[in-house]
Amino acid sequence: MFELQDAFARKFQYLRLSVTDVCNFKCQYCLPDGYMPDGRKSFLTLDEIRRLVHGFAAMGTSKVRITGGEPSLRKDFTQIIETVAATPGIEKVAMTTNGYRMKKQVADWRQAGLTAINVSVDSLDPRMFHQITGQNRFHEVMDGIDAAFVAGFEQVKVNAVLMRGLNDGDLDRFLAWIKDNPIQLRFIELMQTGEMDELFQRHHVRGAVIKAILLQQGWQQKLKAHNDGPAEVFWHADYKGEIGLIMPYSKDFCASCNRLRVSSLGKLHLCLFGDYGVDLRDLLADDHHQADLQRRLREALVDKKATHFLHEGITGMTPHLASIGG
Ligand code: 5AD
Ligand code: SF4
Repeated sequence: MFELQDAFARKFQYLRLSVTDVCNFKCQYCLPDGYMPDGRKSFLTLDEIRRLVHGFAAMGTSKVRITGGEPSLRKDFTQIIETVAATPGIEKVAMTTNGYRMKKQVADWRQAGLTAINVSVDSLDPRMFHQITGQNRFHEVMDGIDAAFVAGFEQVKVNAVLMRGLNDGDLDRFLAWIKDNPIQLRFIELMQTGEMDELFQRHHVRGAVIKAILLQQGWQQKLKAHNDGPAEVFWHADYKGEIGLIMPYSKDFCASCNRLRVSSLGKLHLCLFGDYGVDLRDLLADDHHQADLQRRLREALVDKKATHFLHEGITGMTPHLASIGG
């Protein structure tokens, strides 16, 4: 029975699960100074992940996205995929990655049950890629995308955070890239988070600017299916790839929210930009708390707000998205 529904009749069949905060990139919009290790943190174990996903699936969750930080930095990452994929009721297992380990490991991930992959590529200019991510690894990441196709993924999703003055002039190059490649390229509007100061003012560009150009060039907006999330997707007969626009500052963005988040420390977050997380960890220590877990999830959903408060400049307690898994 499907039970993960809130007061606004939104259904949450999609869980985004962060398995670590650690990341080896230094994206300007996320961890500009790199990840700061905090010895006290212990991330969810494989057993805790199994119990957590089991609880969600029992209430109707059918898709899990594994995120981080960089999830593939976990030594047991392939086992995490296997564990999630083996949970009854889970049909789709996706991940978001910076691509760093993809070339070497994507075939194993696929074998373990991964069904979809999102990789970040903020620029197709290797120098700009380095400037934005702090890592001179453009070619490795692109090789990783090729490896994903070789491993059998039919489509790869690529995330690019739009930034004025850095990659907002790259549209033509991105379009040329997806002409013959089955890539869904997703432009994400820069979101303001707690630790960001002037970066947002300096670099935020509205996705609507890209949308206008696409429509002018003959791209057409796809109708949203019932379960689709907040991205607006565009297609064009001359292109194998698609474009997605993720515009958190647009009206109605939150109305199509279909996701819940659990942090790598086991807290349920109802929204990226909420003020608090609901701790679930005490119920993950053994197999006997499934009923309590489900009750806590059900009760928490009563509090899910209709929308975030980003328009008012209120970013909640999220310091950066690495802490909660973008
Ligand atoms: N604004 C928009 N997108 C962000 N991401 C991380 N931080 C931000 C931010 N401040 C996205 C990136 C990355 C994914 C993990 O999260 O697109 O691909
Ligand atoms: Fe959902 Fe919060 Fe994101 Fe809005 S900001 S779409 S409510 S998670």
